[in-house]
Amino acid sequence: MTAGKNIWTQVDHYAEASLLPADPAMDAVLERNRASGLPAIDVSPLQGKFLDLVVRMCGARRVLEIGTLGGYSTIWMARALPAGGTVVTLELEERHAAVANQNFATAGVSDRVDLRVGLALSSLEKLGEEEAGPFDLIFIDADKPNNERYLIWAMRLARPGTVIICDNVIRDGAVIEAESRDASVQGARDVFSFFGSRGKLEATALQTVGEKGYDGFAMAIVGEG
Ligand code: SAH
Ligand code: DHB
Ligand code: MG
Repeated sequence: MTAGKNIWTQVDHYAEASLLPADPAMDAVLERNRASGLPAIDVSPLQGKFLDLVVRMCGARRVLEIGTLGGYSTIWMARALPAGGTVVTLELEERHAAVANQNFATAGVSDRVDLRVGLALSSLEKLGEEEAGPFDLIFIDADKPNNERYLIWAMRLARPGTVIICDNVIRDGAVIEAESRDASVQGARDVFSFFGSRGKLEATALQTVGEKGYDGFAMAIVGEG
């Protein structure tokens, strides 16, 4: 266990109690995900609210998410959309997608979520063929070794001003281990090299601690050109 996790969790609970109104619908989503045996790797409630605020701060109408799990992050973003907005969310596992679809129905967002089951790279190819872009916000939170491929697709499906957020780019600090043999750590490093090497992108990274441990987000905005 990471040192300090207990205080991080307590502070998360303090911030949640102070800032987030009671939300039985969102609590029920997490309960269903656990009862269905999904891994407990959903964003935290405070991170969900962060995604909600980002959707509204960038006035997003079309959101793309890579990595649905039980749809907890999806629902936070879907609820923040204006009328007529949609989240397209990509998930490999049928079992996860089935739970997510139940959650979308209970949360009342099924009409604004387009869940596509299969390898995200295949779904992205299809979205490209459909000319489904541009998306206003793209949240990348799936298999980390594919981050660079997802970012290449994100750029194709973006417009100037699109915001791209990648989850889990700090990995307990292991991101600084250049020689790491952990493919997820290399995937985290790929986000930094991608965001750092394209003049079109302005980016930052935010380290986070909390009930999920020590990790972080990277976020970028796509420029002109
Ligand atoms: N965004 C979710 C958590 C996603 S967990 C939330 O915060 O609530 C990562 C998800 O990516 C898992 O459900 C996993 O099955 C999915 N995934 C892994 N590899 C994938 C791939 N190649 N294509 C699509 N989804 C994938
Ligand atoms: C893992 C994946 C996630 O998306 C996350 O938020 C936390 C952990 C993982 O694969 O370990
Ligand atoms: Mg994640």
